[in-house]
Amino acid sequence: MVKAIRVHEAGGPEVLRFEDYDPGAPGKGEVLVEHKAVGLNFLDVYFRTGLYPAPLPLVPGSEAAGVVVETGEGVDSLKPGDRVAYCLRTGSYCERRVVPADRLVKVPDGITDEQAAAMMLKGMTAWYLLHRTFQVKSGHTILFHAAAGGVGLIAGQWAKHIGARTIGTVGSGEKGKLAKAHGYDHVINYRDNNFVDEVKKITDGALCEVVYDSVGKDTFPGSLDCLKKRGMFVSFGQSSGPMPPVNLAILSQKGSLFATRPTLFDYIAKREDLEAASSALFDVVRSGVVEIVVNQKYALKDAAKAHADLEGRRTTGTTVLIP
Ligand SMILES: NC(=O)c1ccc[n+]([C@@H]2O[C@H](COP(=O)([O-])OP(=O)(O)OC[C@H]3O[C@@H](n4cnc5c(N)ncnc54)[C@H](OP(=O)(O)O)[C@@H]3O)[C@@H](O)[C@H]2O)c1
Repeated sequence: MVKAIRVHEAGGPEVLRFEDYDPGAPGKGEVLVEHKAVGLNFLDVYFRTGLYPAPLPLVPGSEAAGVVVETGEGVDSLKPGDRVAYCLRTGSYCERRVVPADRLVKVPDGITDEQAAAMMLKGMTAWYLLHRTFQVKSGHTILFHAAAGGVGLIAGQWAKHIGARTIGTVGSGEKGKLAKAHGYDHVINYRDNNFVDEVKKITDGALCEVVYDSVGKDTFPGSLDCLKKRGMFVSFGQSSGPMPPVNLAILSQKGSLFATRPTLFDYIAKREDLEAASSALFDVVRSGVVEIVVNQKYALKDAAKAHADLEGRRTTGTTVLIP
């Protein structure tokens, strides 16, 4: 038996229970991993609340790093002692778990367990948003909401490196300073200001090629008004609550816009895409282009406190849980 956080009924942070858990043994093509650090993600909140339905009881958690303890039949790419990391929709809030070998990547030297755990899901998300969903190029102007958050700080640094002009929204002055230190040319406190007016001022009315919106309810439809004609609206989350249903006619009214609602798991479903995403991420982190800012650490048993802080907008950058 090991310890895990489990959810027996959907609800607030209090439904996260620390209890005994049997991780099982690795079967064919599987690997038993001992977690050294587990990343915290807003995705975990959606599963806990039931916004994203999943069978119960559920071990939440979508990214982690650790070492291989045991390999199952047919696994020859990994051996006990290898340092590995992964992201999967659920199952990582535990001390040990079984993972399909083809979902694991080896963590290179120069990247710590905590960095790896903090960045797999958030960093590969920044990669596909900037390189695949919309290909950001030097000279583009981008708006990224929640710029001081986990995905936001990684994306800001990466987009700046590509050569984009970067505008980020944040919920406080302190968060604004952090975002400015991590790739954002301009920050807008969207609690105190109308972000659409601010984007118009910053760009002299030229607006943005792309808007990355993970806030959802509170930033829609304003995000559409920050786009140039034929710009791309990327709705990739709903930290403030789900967006209302949308009549697609709004896209023509606002300037023949494009809109997409992507999820990372469709961009790394093939092994070759997982390898492309993770190696691009490891490269930018090892070369210093992207700093992984781990600003909060909690013991795994305190996952409820970590969730309350994430939902209460009290975290910045990334957060890890330590088993
Ligand atoms: N589709 C995908 O593939 C994918 C993958 C990864 C993450 N995501 C999404 O990306 C977003 C960021 O994820 P993350 O884990 O890095 O979280 P995060 O950005 O560190 O935390 C969420 C941030 O959203 C902002 N926010 C605005 N209104 C909020 C509200 N009413 N309640 C709570 N937060 C609010 C807060 O920043 P301010 O105070 O500065 O506003 C908060 O810090 C999430 O929506 C997540 O679901 C999507």
